[in-house]
Amino acid sequence: MPSNTPPGKPRVLSGITATGKLTIGNYIGALSVWAQEQDKHENYFFIADLHALTVPENIKANDLREHIKQIVALYLACGLDPEKSVLFQQSRVPAHATLGWIFDCVTPIGWLERMTQYKSKSQNATPSAGLFTYPALMAADILLYQATYVPVGDDQRQHIEIARDIAQRFNHLFGEVFRMPEPMIRTSGARIMGLDDPTVKMSKSTAQTRDGHAIALLDPPAKIRKAVMRAVTDSGSEVRPDALSPGVDNLLTLFGALSGIDRDEALRRFEGRRYGELKKEVAEVTIERVTAIQDRYHEIRSDETYLEKTLADGAEKASETAEQTFTEAMRSTGLL
Ligand code: AMP
Ligand code: TRP
Repeated sequence: MPSNTPPGKPRVLSGITATGKLTIGNYIGALSVWAQEQDKHENYFFIADLHALTVPENIKANDLREHIKQIVALYLACGLDPEKSVLFQQSRVPAHATLGWIFDCVTPIGWLERMTQYKSKSQNATPSAGLFTYPALMAADILLYQATYVPVGDDQRQHIEIARDIAQRFNHLFGEVFRMPEPMIRTSGARIMGLDDPTVKMSKSTAQTRDGHAIALLDPPAKIRKAVMRAVTDSGSEVRPDALSPGVDNLLTLFGALSGIDRDEALRRFEGRRYGELKKEVAEVTIERVTAIQDRYHEIRSDETYLEKTLADGAEKASETAEQTFTEAMRSTGLL
């Protein structure tokens, strides 16, 4: 076991890439879990701004700056408490990028070529080297903090597996420095699907070009209602457990996750009822939750000094923890 294994509560780390407006998928799959489990763990949550650069064609400096502030304010509005969780911006802790480089050097290309996210994202654009090596940087994010659990949505499972493989390879080459992280993935709600196409994951990048695809946490109620009422279902008209299409299943999952019941209970509640009624209730629970988040968000955004202080304090605390592992990694390779 590495000597810098954290004593006490298990350590949790996760992040969200700063590439657009956070969706209800980010909230259900990631943020709500972080907030709920906060008391049980020692927590590190960050804004993955370096990861946002992997598709540089989509970057505008002012938008990126705004996204970073928006995300930290949403972290706070969704219930993350700076007294219980270290909230920080990835690029303010330079050890992420340096360890990322070290991991680039220990990661065989074949591992990166197998990543499904790279395969799909490299189809449309001119893929950058950063997009290709992104999993090594993500491994650095996790392993720098010796995280025990990484709470994420289902789409990140493969990224955590490769982080484990990278840890193992580094430890094998240079000595035991890194501990193996485990994914923490909720059983229902870990993959919220697009409202306009329930066969694809709801994603903040797709939402930028397709109205009606996602619910953003900062969307006005009328927009949310419209997107939910127009959500794609199937040619049937009422909820039948023996014939659940992906669209209806997704609405039941959303309802369950936002009203604190499991999906099966949601299914029992809506069995035999019309799709229109299901949609109406999904819109209502969503608007109720999102409105509460938005009220807190606007309050937080009105105090830019507080936001900046949160990020400055977070960077200081995160650096202190990261430094311990970073120094060990530098020593074991001979860089120090
Ligand atoms: P990203 O938007 O890709 O930066 O994702 C940030 C976090 O939200 C990760 O833990 C994702 O797995 C999670 N997430 C993103 N989209 C969804 C979704 N549609 N359903 C559930 N979790 C999601
Ligand atoms: N790759 C994650 C996503 O796009 C964001 C991320 C970057 C992350 N580094 C991480 C998540 C470390 C958990 C742990 O969703």
